[in-house]
Amino acid sequence: MGEEFVYLDNAATTWPKPEQVYQAVDKTMRESCANPGRSSHQMSLKAERIVEEARQAVAQFFNAPSHKNVVFTLNCTDALNIILKGLIKPGDRVITGPYEHNSVMRPLRTLQRSGTSVAIAPGTSDFSIDLDRFRNLCKEGVDYAVVSHVSNVTGCIAPVREIADIVHEKGGILILDAAQSAGIIDIDMQLLGVDVIAAPGHKGLMGPMGVGILVLGDNLPVQPFREGGTGNKSQEDSQPKELPWLLEAGTANLPGIAGLLAGIRYIQSIGVNTIAEHEKELARRLVDGLKKLDGIRFYCDPGEPQTGVISFTLDFMDVSLTGTMLDQAFNIGVRTGLHCAPAAHKTIGTFPAGTVRVSFGYYNRSDHVDRLICSLYALAR
Ligand SMILES: Cc1ncc(COP(=O)(O)O)c(C=O)c1O
Repeated sequence: MGEEFVYLDNAATTWPKPEQVYQAVDKTMRESCANPGRSSHQMSLKAERIVEEARQAVAQFFNAPSHKNVVFTLNCTDALNIILKGLIKPGDRVITGPYEHNSVMRPLRTLQRSGTSVAIAPGTSDFSIDLDRFRNLCKEGVDYAVVSHVSNVTGCIAPVREIADIVHEKGGILILDAAQSAGIIDIDMQLLGVDVIAAPGHKGLMGPMGVGILVLGDNLPVQPFREGGTGNKSQEDSQPKELPWLLEAGTANLPGIAGLLAGIRYIQSIGVNTIAEHEKELARRLVDGLKKLDGIRFYCDPGEPQTGVISFTLDFMDVSLTGTMLDQAFNIGVRTGLHCAPAAHKTIGTFPAGTVRVSFGYYNRSDHVDRLICSLYALAR
C-alpha cells in the first residue's frame, strides 16, 4: 500500500476542492440558507445576492451575452437534457461528434425515435473529428450540432471554432458539451462561435456536486420541461417567458451555487491556462514514464497529451482488474471501463471493455504520477 490515497479521477469530479469552496458551502448553509428570490426578508435577499453574483461570474467567465442567459442546473447531464429536449423537434436534423457522452447520445436517441434525424461525424486516427465528413453532413442540412469540447475518453480537444463556422454557414445552432473543458480551457462563447454551453459545476469549475450550468445565446426558442415556482409573476399559471426563469423552477441549490462561485473565483485567481498547463505537464510525465512499459497502448494525441485526461490499455491485464489492483494494492484511484461514452470507445476501437482512464487535477503533483508509473511497472512484473 502506498501512503496517501492518490486521486486520479478528476474528469469524473475534481477533488479535493479549494479551501474557499468548502468555506463558501459551509458559510452559506449557516448564514444564508433561505430560498433565494422568494421572500423579502434579509436572509432570502442575502441568498438571492449570492445567486446573482454567481450568475454574473459565470456570464463573465464564458462571455455570455447577459447574466440572465445563465441558468443553474443539477449537473451537465441536466443542462444537456434541458437544451436538447427543449430545442430539438421532430423533423430537425442534428449532427453530432464521434466521441459523445451518453448525456448527449441518450437524449439524441430518444429524440430520434420521435422523428429527429441524427447523423454522427466520424473520428480520425489522431482522435480528432473528421471535419471534411462533418462539413459534408452539414451540407445535407443542419439545424443543430452537438459536440463535446474535450473527449472524456481521449482528452483530445475538438476544433470548435472550425465546427462553429461550418454549422453557422448552414444556418445551424452549435451546442457545446463543455463537461471536460469548463475551467480547463478558456471559453469565450462569442469568440468561439458557440450558441449554447452546458457544463458541470463539479469538475473543472471546482464546485460541489449537484450544480451545473447552461449558458444560452440570445433568442433561442427553447421550451421548458420543468415548470413551477420562480418567485416572480406568481399570479400567472404559466412559466415566465424570460431567462433565467423560463428554465429555472423550484428552490435552487444555494450551497452548490455558492461553492461554484468560490470555485470560479479560485480558478480566476490562478488562471485557466496555468491550471491547463499543470495538468498537461503531469500527463506528459505519465506518457513519458510509461513509454518503455511493454504492452501499453495510449489513446491520446500521438504528439503529446492535449489535456490532463489519458486513456490506456495493457495487453497483460484487463482494464477493470488494473483499476482494482491500483486501488487495492497501490492506493490509487483511476476510472476504468466505458466512462459513460460507449460511442467514443466504438470510435477508437476499445468497445466494449473500455480503457483505464487517468485524469489529473490542479492538486495532483509529479510524485502522484511517479507512484502510478511505479505501480504499473510492478503490475507488469
Ligand atoms: C463529456 C461529458 N459530458 C457530460 C458529462 C456529464 O456530466 P455530469 O456528471 O455533470 O452530468 C460528463 C461526465 O463525465 C462528460 O465527461
